[in-house]
Amino acid sequence: MVAQRAHEVEISGIRKMFEAAPPGAINLGLGEPDFEPPAAVVDALCDAVRHGMNHYGPSAGISALRDKVAERYVDRDPDTNRDNVIITGSGSEGLMATALTLYDPGDEVLVPDPGFVLYAPHARLCGAVPVAYGLDEENHYLPNVDELEARITPRTRAIVVNSPSNPTGGVFPKATVERIVELAERHDLTIVSDEVYEEMIYDGKFASFWGRGDRVVVVNSFSKTLAMTGWRIGFLVAPRSLAVEINKLHYHMMACPSTPAQAAVLAGLNAGPGATQVMMKEFRARRELVVKGLNRIPGLSCVPPSGAFYAFPKFAWPGTAQEVAGALLQRGLISTPGDAFGSRGASHLRLSFAASRANLKKGMSILRAYAKEVNGG
Ligand SMILES: Cc1ncc(COP(=O)(O)O)c(C=O)c1O
Repeated sequence: MVAQRAHEVEISGIRKMFEAAPPGAINLGLGEPDFEPPAAVVDALCDAVRHGMNHYGPSAGISALRDKVAERYVDRDPDTNRDNVIITGSGSEGLMATALTLYDPGDEVLVPDPGFVLYAPHARLCGAVPVAYGLDEENHYLPNVDELEARITPRTRAIVVNSPSNPTGGVFPKATVERIVELAERHDLTIVSDEVYEEMIYDGKFASFWGRGDRVVVVNSFSKTLAMTGWRIGFLVAPRSLAVEINKLHYHMMACPSTPAQAAVLAGLNAGPGATQVMMKEFRARRELVVKGLNRIPGLSCVPPSGAFYAFPKFAWPGTAQEVAGALLQRGLISTPGDAFGSRGASHLRLSFAASRANLKKGMSILRAYAKEVNGG
């Protein structure tokens, strides 16, 4: 009845947990800030819809917003301009449009494990084969570049990278970025760099892949930084000739991004990074709270995330990650089983700390009670 590709993908483990949750459960499952978009952005959205910005726009986005986004990338590559930028209907759509543009059936695509839930399914939807490379706790969740190279074959087309990482919180230092770029150039691969958490760093410094070689696509989003996950708006930056191709696929999926949302985002960017900084101050405090709290629970160990807003503790309890997350769900806590992000995520849970301190404390007391139960009271 349906095409084979529909059988190739499933609803993500993140969504499954969310949708199976009992009423009133503490939600540390979804990756979304518990903040509202900045007032300037909300006002600009209302103004836009009241003043006629309710129609189709250019498929690559309105020029003023593309210019504004390009400005941010000029210090990474001085030649960047609006022709490099496509405004997308979210980071998710940007990733799909990029995959459809780059991957042919039979191609291999290197994806992180554990890694964000869309990379491997997107490759499969294109008929390509995702090939996992590991991110290990012992290596601060950074890729082992030799392992990465060992996985390259004549069919390898692209490497997907994500720093800061969902779910691990790992942040690539500049040296890792440079090594991956060098590797990609040597093997003629395109780098798809998911940088949606670039403004969410606690330790170290963010190093972008943009401006390092001519085979890089950066996928980004306004979802997290402007606390507008429900608005569905993002962007990507690509070499000009590739951007023309990606824009065709993007057009066939959504014609154009939301016009009023673009006007609102532009107002947000013009207002500067203040709102994101306020949010980050709070996330930093919550990170301390959660990492300390988790490491005090018998059977849990948590490496402090360097970026994003997820704790990714390892558990030494009986059962698979699915089973442990299922048991926690019955006790009123929504988490995401680590193996939803790949087999190397086994024995981990992902807990989002983009939730109120009160809910984080409640979530940790459910974990504490569970640890007591499994350790025999
Ligand atoms: C690493 C990563 N990339 C991309 C996305 C997609 O974000 P959006 O589709 O809301 O822009 C997310 C959302 O959780 C993410 O964590």
